[in-house]
Amino acid sequence: MTDRFETLTVHAGAEPDPQTGAVVPPIQMSTTFKQDGVGGLRSGYEYGRSGNPTREALEAAIASLENGTHGLAYASGLAATQNVFYLLEPGDRLLMSDDVYGGTWRLADKVWRRYGIQTDAIDLRDLDAVAAAFAAEHPPRMVWIETPSNPLLKIIDISAVARLAAVAGAITVVDNTFATPYLQRPLETGADLVLHSATKYLGGHSDVIGGLVVTRSEELAERLRFHQNAAGAVPSPFDCFLVMRGLRTLAVRMERACANALVLALWLADRPEVSAVNYPGLADGPTAELVERQMRLPGAMLSFEHAGGEEAARGFAGATRLFTLAESLGAVESLIELPAPMTHASVSDSPLAVTNSLVRLSVGIENVDDLRDDLEAAFGASGS
Ligand SMILES: Cc1ncc(COP(=O)(O)O)c(C=O)c1O
Repeated sequence: MTDRFETLTVHAGAEPDPQTGAVVPPIQMSTTFKQDGVGGLRSGYEYGRSGNPTREALEAAIASLENGTHGLAYASGLAATQNVFYLLEPGDRLLMSDDVYGGTWRLADKVWRRYGIQTDAIDLRDLDAVAAAFAAEHPPRMVWIETPSNPLLKIIDISAVARLAAVAGAITVVDNTFATPYLQRPLETGADLVLHSATKYLGGHSDVIGGLVVTRSEELAERLRFHQNAAGAVPSPFDCFLVMRGLRTLAVRMERACANALVLALWLADRPEVSAVNYPGLADGPTAELVERQMRLPGAMLSFEHAGGEEAARGFAGATRLFTLAESLGAVESLIELPAPMTHASVSDSPLAVTNSLVRLSVGIENVDDLRDDLEAAFGASGS
């Protein structure tokens, strides 16, 4: 019998401890494990970097929630990204969405380029451009999709891109940080790997940095597992425990945050201070159909262009009371930021640059009337 998603969030990876019956998997801090004679491992554990029961509980939980078979946990989302890049060889090309987290682009373009990996950014919504990239003489070995994307909330058709990639023998990776497996499960629509900054919705409380990767491929899992141990960017058992605790409430947090975001997106779209709202729930035409097909709900992230320009956007972002001016996203509390000078400062000189008047909101689970009042007061206070 297969449990439904909400049930899995509560129970996945959380078998009561066989020794004590503890219903919360214990945090196993030991870095090494006694051997009964050389190589005589009691339950497969040898050394904490190579394997740890608390980490394995988290890895089992995320594999189950993403409907994959292998989960891997890392010290951060970027450590997870780094491990995925280890699947590439010098001379390989990486095709990336032209709107991704700035740090992902920085890692590809500023670090991996030095080791012979060429990254090209295109708008992956343009399937003709994707097809052309894969038809090139030297096609990409990997395609990197972020959908909804950060910070413009573009929606990319995962199954269409994955089909084109598969024909060319390329690996499709989906950064599912913004959607979470509650809203979309990329492995079910053809992706080979799904990646998370667990720092965001999965942890959910702005108190842990972590990364996760899930796959159904034995071969990819084996290669990732090798580098997880060989390069060593593993999370602490305590961090794994915190992400596990966050996962338990993922479904209810997402429901509430998405409902709040829709209310605020509609309200912002009517404000004179706002010239454009980026929110998948406001899409129309083919994009609306894609959101409907690909996502359970349109998410809790949105961004908008402040009609007053950069100074007005800065004034507004500094004038909220409940929306905390801070980087990051996906927690119970609402956050506000300006991507250009903050999360996306590292892409200012790249094809991924965004305008200085773009404001990004991570909508939390507070009372939505309070959130709207806060935004309204900030428009008033910032004179915009
Ligand atoms: C979509 C996305 N992917 C990856 C990352 C990187 O994750 P971390 O900060 O946990 O390294 C972030 C961080 O903001 C992100 O927003």
